[in-house]
Amino acid sequence: METRIFQVKDPFEEDQALKEAAAILKKGGLVAFPTETVYGLGANGLDATAAARIFEAKERPQDNPLILHISMPSELDLYCKDIPVSARVLAEYFWPGPLTLVLRRRDLIPDVITAGLDTLAIRCPDHPVARALIRQAGVPLAAPSANRSGRPSPTRCSHVWEDMNGRIEGIVDGGDCKVGVESTVLDLTTSPPRLLRPGGVPLEALEDILGEVAVDEALLQQLKEGERPKAPGMKYRHYAPKAPVTVVCGAPADTAVWIFNRVDQKTGVLCFSEYAGCFPNAVVRAMGKSDDPAEQARMVFHALRSFDETNVTKIYAQCPDESGLGLAVSNRLKKAAGFHVEMVSPSLPHLTVFGITGGTGAGKTSALMVLAQMGACVIDCDAVYHTLLSESLEMRQALVKRFGDILDSSGGVDRKKLGRIVFDDPEALLALNELTHTFVTQEVERELEQAAQAGVPIAAIDAIALIESGLSKRCHRVVGVIAPEQLRVQRLMRREGIGEEYAILRIHAQKPDSFFRENCHAVLENTNDDLNAFSQTATALFVQLLNEIRKEERR
Ligand code: TXA
Ligand code: MG
Repeated sequence: METRIFQVKDPFEEDQALKEAAAILKKGGLVAFPTETVYGLGANGLDATAAARIFEAKERPQDNPLILHISMPSELDLYCKDIPVSARVLAEYFWPGPLTLVLRRRDLIPDVITAGLDTLAIRCPDHPVARALIRQAGVPLAAPSANRSGRPSPTRCSHVWEDMNGRIEGIVDGGDCKVGVESTVLDLTTSPPRLLRPGGVPLEALEDILGEVAVDEALLQQLKEGERPKAPGMKYRHYAPKAPVTVVCGAPADTAVWIFNRVDQKTGVLCFSEYAGCFPNAVVRAMGKSDDPAEQARMVFHALRSFDETNVTKIYAQCPDESGLGLAVSNRLKKAAGFHVEMVSPSLPHLTVFGITGGTGAGKTSALMVLAQMGACVIDCDAVYHTLLSESLEMRQALVKRFGDILDSSGGVDRKKLGRIVFDDPEALLALNELTHTFVTQEVERELEQAAQAGVPIAAIDAIALIESGLSKRCHRVVGVIAPEQLRVQRLMRREGIGEEYAILRIHAQKPDSFFRENCHAVLENTNDDLNAFSQTATALFVQLLNEIRKEERR
């Protein structure tokens, strides 16, 4: 059979391609179409023979029922009965959208669609092409995801082509799916309602409306031998690329270190984007940043599929945080892994301390942002110093004792006065630094203690004079951030609205790059203004250093 690709130009008008695709469906043919979640493999939902062909084309087990797709929420009553108020409320909130409701079915629905159950899964998709196609066909469309059974769901037209070319009459191309994971399936025939599949509508959003929602065990772990699943689809291995998958759960920084120690050229790594630079020997696919579950959802199936074009023999996947859309992403990954899950606990019982230093405008802040994203608390020594100036009576007294009257009328330190005293007196400057370093160090020590007590895994001390103040001794690793002078000058001018000459002057007053190269464990070179590239390089370095530290600690 030849599979045609239909390009829809305008789904709201009388589109020729849409008409042709709809005509095929009307005649009992199979046409795949885009929805906001994944591509569906559509057939006339009121025609048992047409629907039966879906099972053949997908090689889908007969006992796994299909979702009926309607073009308008109001069509719900045509196909379901005994509809509870909760269904009306949910439809009002989430339709058209990625929520499938399981309700009592009416008799006109063929048995093949519900696999003989007396319930029907139904949803109104939020995609103009899908809805226009259903309208044109004049019948509801039964549609599972348009992948071959067991394969990752298709989120692009090319995915459907890979799996279905030659097996179906047509594919309507609607570009990439914007949600990327399938709809949430909620059974409303039980009390409380039961989540059968996490998906595009987060569990939390359902709970906000319904109160209690039961979460099926089978979503979180593998069914035990002989156990009967609530949704037939739960019992099948799903979404799997050819190579076996292991899902690695834990804080991203910890899972990255864990995976880092286990990769070679034949290993696939499915990781958060910021960790993409951490596994130079492996075959890496990124799925969005660790704090961006929407992007992870859009990418996860594409990434899983893409490993099949490589020669990897195993795949490790970082497991997303399970709140919001993250629950659906982690569920798909765990199913792809056949629930082969590694739990990585933080390998150090105590705080890992990084020191971050470097001159103004070099990009310390970007490096600190990377550490913060890895779960670090950041201690900004400059801020500590300024707080102490205004809040520490002890430090003020020590300053007065050494430098005389440097207080303003309200008893605070007059920083201009102090500045004038040390400006051209190197000895005074040295004394000032020594004095403030003592107080700052004490305060940093206190904050580190606090972080350790709170169970924070990583702390980052941010200080220009990290090494001179001796604080570097407190760090497991010291990283210097350097950048070409030209770039630093530009950043400084932009950031502080100062002239070029003054910017250059300020940079020359600071330590040269060679100082950081000699005195730090590692330097990060911020060679251009590409923040993403720098973040990836920085993440890779920190993962490598964390790994070193952990190895040393184990010895
Ligand atoms: O986002 C989606 O839902 C996509 C797009 C195409 O709409 N469709 C989709 O269909 O994911 P499918 O067939 O791949 O998954 C349907 C799931 C299966 O897990 C199936 O077991 C469950 O819904 N299901 C269908 N009818 C059911 C019923 N009456 N009771 C319980 N579960 C049902
Ligand atoms: Mg499916």
